[in-house]
Amino acid sequence: MKYIDEIDIKGKTLFIRVDFNVPLDQNLNITDDTRIRAVLPTINFCLEADAKVILASHLGRPKGQRVEAFSLAPVARRLAYRLHKKVNLAPDCIGPEVDKLKADMKPGDVLLLENLRFHSEEEKNDADFARELMKGVDVYVDDAFAVAHRAHASVEAVTHFAPNCVGGFLMRDEVHYFHRAMEDPARPLAALIGGAKIVGKLTALKNLLQHVDKMVIGGAMANTFLKCMGYEVGKSLVDDSLLGAAKEIMEEAQKKNVKFYLPVDCVVADRLEKQAETKITPVQEVPKDWLIADIGPATVTLFGEALQNAKTIVWNGPMGAFEYDAFSRGTMAMVQKVAESYALTIVGGGDTDVALHKAGEFQKFSYVSTGGGAFIELLEGKKLPGIVALEDWTRRNGHD
Ligand code: 3PG
Repeated sequence: MKYIDEIDIKGKTLFIRVDFNVPLDQNLNITDDTRIRAVLPTINFCLEADAKVILASHLGRPKGQRVEAFSLAPVARRLAYRLHKKVNLAPDCIGPEVDKLKADMKPGDVLLLENLRFHSEEEKNDADFARELMKGVDVYVDDAFAVAHRAHASVEAVTHFAPNCVGGFLMRDEVHYFHRAMEDPARPLAALIGGAKIVGKLTALKNLLQHVDKMVIGGAMANTFLKCMGYEVGKSLVDDSLLGAAKEIMEEAQKKNVKFYLPVDCVVADRLEKQAETKITPVQEVPKDWLIADIGPATVTLFGEALQNAKTIVWNGPMGAFEYDAFSRGTMAMVQKVAESYALTIVGGGDTDVALHKAGEFQKFSYVSTGGGAFIELLEGKKLPGIVALEDWTRRNGHD
């Protein structure tokens, strides 16, 4: 794959696919603009080269309809504030009006297209829609790692119509750090995996076992492992249909000589609510009508020791129901442990980055991925259509 600083972009019209799928509150205010800040280096690089910058993104899942709540208007305002520059928001992402706006652009202009998913053709990877998007474009730049797992028109089909295709700086960082962590890691390599449900992570766990030296499991997904070992887990979230799969994973870990760590104590609650009654118990003593809501202090010590000599740590998923203060201590304590580690630390997927923000420790991690589903699919060992499309374009055009 080629990247933006390997080609001549001076004065050219660039179409940069970004992922501005940012969280909004009820009043449509952006509550976290990490994904906007993450692509500023690419945008600024292009502006410094006097390029004309067209930006395109999806926001939410409007299902092919124009839904005002999913307009990119709040993003345009925040981006203008971050760039210290006027950002023109187009009324749509294709059509005669947009073509005119593109044609009228001057070097250094920024045009943000309206939500790509207002057109159902986007998610259908439609070729005609992709051709329309690429009208008047000299270079397609993919800096949208977080949507690279979707074979959508602005991610995949466009690469068949663009005169030149490259990755942006965010894409380069994401690919680079993931490669360092999983393909060519400094060892021991440890995976710290949490989150609520084992079902969405099963493939990732199986793939990780082929790479890691240690696997550390927390969060509600640990309950399924504890139950398959014969522990009482009370009313905790458990995926009973996956007890067999959990057992297989532990057997596979043993076969592969991967050190496997589960919680030894936990915070239990009589219900998952702010006012719940809580206590700390060993995993052997979970009361029948209570549920496990977080890892306990002995587990934090155990997990911390397990990670202490790791040279690479990959972390996905919180250790408990950390959205409640009473059940956030385990996750916050692990944020501290990983932040203090000398290892290369890579975090991604789901709510893990939210925990880092909450703890104010974002800067202490080697790399925090902007990907949710995309990061998990990499952990599963899958090739992402967005990355494959860029590699294929480079191959087709003889730039191996
Ligand atoms: C994400 O937030 O993970 C990406 O923007 C992809 O969004 P999607 O799951 O709606 O395709």
